[in-house]
Amino acid sequence: MKTTTEKFGATPHQPSLWTRADALKVRADDPTTTQPLVSADFPVLNNDVFIWDTMPLRDLDGNVTSVDGWSVIFTLTADRHPNDPQYLDEDGNYDILRDWNDRHGRAKMYYWFSRTGKNWEFGGRVMAEGVSPTAREWAGTPILLNDRGEVDLYYTAVTPGATIVKVRGRVVTTEHGVSMVGFEKVKPLFEADGKMYQTEAQNAFWGFRDPWPFRDPKDGKLYMLFEGNVAGERGSHKVGEAEIGDVPPGYEDVGNSRFQTACVGIAVARDADGDDWEMLPPLLTAVGVNDQTERPHFVFQDGKYYLFTISHTFTYADGVTGPDGVYGFVADSLFGPYVPLNGSGLVLGNPSSQPFQTYSHYVMPNGLVTSFIDSVPTDETGTQIRVGGTEAPTVGMKIKGQQTFVVAEYDYGYIPPMLDVTLK
Ligand code: FRU
Repeated sequence: MKTTTEKFGATPHQPSLWTRADALKVRADDPTTTQPLVSADFPVLNNDVFIWDTMPLRDLDGNVTSVDGWSVIFTLTADRHPNDPQYLDEDGNYDILRDWNDRHGRAKMYYWFSRTGKNWEFGGRVMAEGVSPTAREWAGTPILLNDRGEVDLYYTAVTPGATIVKVRGRVVTTEHGVSMVGFEKVKPLFEADGKMYQTEAQNAFWGFRDPWPFRDPKDGKLYMLFEGNVAGERGSHKVGEAEIGDVPPGYEDVGNSRFQTACVGIAVARDADGDDWEMLPPLLTAVGVNDQTERPHFVFQDGKYYLFTISHTFTYADGVTGPDGVYGFVADSLFGPYVPLNGSGLVLGNPSSQPFQTYSHYVMPNGLVTSFIDSVPTDETGTQIRVGGTEAPTVGMKIKGQQTFVVAEYDYGYIPPMLDVTLK
């Protein structure tokens, strides 16, 4: 089997490698890259639903955009089942943790709106039942296309399979609120090809999801990031010298790390509308390091490309570890080479005392980082927890060269607009 470098050798760009040596530099609890503790008495946005991945409405350049003064976010959402016998434990109490852990199977896209960029009001489902072709509506990106309010929602249609799709609709505002209209025809865009990106047939635990379309500030073309795994049968990947990197003596043993094969994928549009896409080799691979680089996204700042992606402790390979949180890489041009931010890649991780407090971080171009609350311990030992399913406090971060610094904390779910578009 070929190494990552050999596999993509003949292609227009070489994927950058997040190496095991880079990951050895990850330090949990460094205050400059750790999310402040989330208190267990957090408010819940809505007691009828769980929400997790949050997708602010934005333009193709990445700017978070309000319409007629209304901020809009999309969230992955699932009903809570406090009275469903299926989620009651032996004593008849609601087993919220089991309900929460099952949410991915019934994820649907919902929207929320606000005048203040927080205290989100419930909008409802974006697509009516039956519109999306598969059981699960997984993460993606809502793009405001123009001042007629047209919105392209890119997302992942999952189970069966995993297809990057888009659906077009319109945002309509009144004095009292926001509604989403249209969103009736879902267009499949592409699936993993098995040559660059791993398919379900190659690995039942494959990842192929989370589209993030954007306009390259330098060449003006339309591209899309997404999460993938490097193609090849599960277990066949080689963790060679390049993937290991410059490790100290005694760190050459890679264990079973060939099973961890995450990558950040990229595709380029063949048309102006983003209906016709060509997949390109990944921008970044993490073979031998980590199995998931989820929800990849960019911040374009100071002429540089800041690539962010979320990852977990449980998806790290043998011999390397790090907190759940957001990791980042920087390059001078779109196709790299990318260098891990802060040396290791870690940008904002959970504190080790509350390892699951937040996840699905999204870094906005104003340096604000939104995420959701997963679970927070309510006792010293961490055996009792409170499940979130709601917005976490927003963190303020400074990005300087190849470093990042936590500098502020804001209200729960604070996602202020960077631009306002007046609809015609
Ligand atoms: C991140 C994530 C996404 C996926 C969704 C599924 O939290 O795993 O990659 O689209 O959640 O619920």
